[in-house]
Amino acid sequence: MGVEVSVEGLTKSFGSQRIWQDVSLTLPAGEVSALLGPSGTGKSVFLKSLIGLLRPEQGSIIIDGTDILQCSSKDLYEIRKLFGVLFQDGALFGSMNLYDNVAFPLREHTKKSESDIRKIVMSKLELVGLLGAEDKLPGEISGGMRKRAGLARALVLDPEIILVDEPDSGLDPVRTTYISQTLIDINAEIDATILIVSHNINLARTVPDNIGMLFRRQLVMFGPREVLLTSDEPVVKQFLNGTMIGPIGMSEEKDEAQMAHEQALVDAGHHAGGVEDVEGIVPQMQATPGMPVRQAVGRRQDRVRQILHTLPPAAQAAIVESLDGEGAATAYPEHDYREHDYRDDDTQVIPAYSPEGYDQPHGMK
Ligand SMILES: Nc1ncnc2c1ncn2[C@@H]1O[C@H](COP(=O)(O)OP(=O)(O)OP(=O)(O)O)[C@@H](O)[C@H]1O
Ligand SMILES: [Mg+2]
Repeated sequence: MGVEVSVEGLTKSFGSQRIWQDVSLTLPAGEVSALLGPSGTGKSVFLKSLIGLLRPEQGSIIIDGTDILQCSSKDLYEIRKLFGVLFQDGALFGSMNLYDNVAFPLREHTKKSESDIRKIVMSKLELVGLLGAEDKLPGEISGGMRKRAGLARALVLDPEIILVDEPDSGLDPVRTTYISQTLIDINAEIDATILIVSHNINLARTVPDNIGMLFRRQLVMFGPREVLLTSDEPVVKQFLNGTMIGPIGMSEEKDEAQMAHEQALVDAGHHAGGVEDVEGIVPQMQATPGMPVRQAVGRRQDRVRQILHTLPPAAQAAIVESLDGEGAATAYPEHDYREHDYRDDDTQVIPAYSPEGYDQPHGMK
């Protein structure tokens, strides 16, 4: 099973520019999580921080018992071997063909024979639909193909933790769905801990077990998918619906006057963008029939059962409804999910997931 990644109180700045602060979340071992957020909120910076490519100035990142912000560079080198990473730009070597790009980590980190390497490289290229393109240089293929080649390269070492930065960017909607299916199947096959950074709402609604969102230098929330997908937070609703109405603007800061002006335009009949009202939960994608059972499903059910009472009521209702066919009444005979101890006070604090439960508030201030 993949390893847990536990982030506590993480803060990152570049010079005087604060990117995000006090970010705490745990990527549960072997589950698929997604990090959403408008452009420029620091999702890629977060991902690079997790593998020690960027160094947050405060907080801890515990991976397999080691805080990578405190450990030696030798230990960091070992920890990095647990990762497979798809960077936002694919990060392929421009002078190497796709075959050599995908083979690179195997040649660098293992003593496998070229014939073993060939088997692995071809199977990963097949997985991402690139068989036949292995002789092409990155400059000779489309952006979406580069992205898929980057994913193949991220997978060759069968990593325990897979980070993918916008796997859908540059892909058409059908290929995006294939990539979504591939990520779920990989999770079923190698039980890796997966973090997907994405803007893609379809992917966010159907793939991850857990979802988080960055906005205005804060982690707005992080937890089981049902929490974000049933959230009433204006920023979440606007993001899921892709409309102009809400706190997200073209630039990071959008003031009250701008919001009022846009609302007035819409009230007068102007199209606010977005095509449908995205509401509530849709079923999660499953591993392709014939794949191993996705172990994360059962583990997540046990986990959310334990923290159920701490979640917002709408999320509780959705989780209870989805629980393994037992139904709410039999699964929780004495539990009334409408009576909850979820904090819903004036400050609109939405707790983020921590191993102990939703007891550590991290919300929009
Ligand atoms: N190496 C760096 N040096 C200085 N600033 C940086 C560096 N990397 C990122 N930034 C800044 O950090 C902020 C967040 O960037 P990041 O790439 O993480 O955003 P993002 O959420 O991934 O956006 P997108 O959705 O567009 O990919 C940006 O303002 C960016 O300019
Ligand atoms: Mg990015």
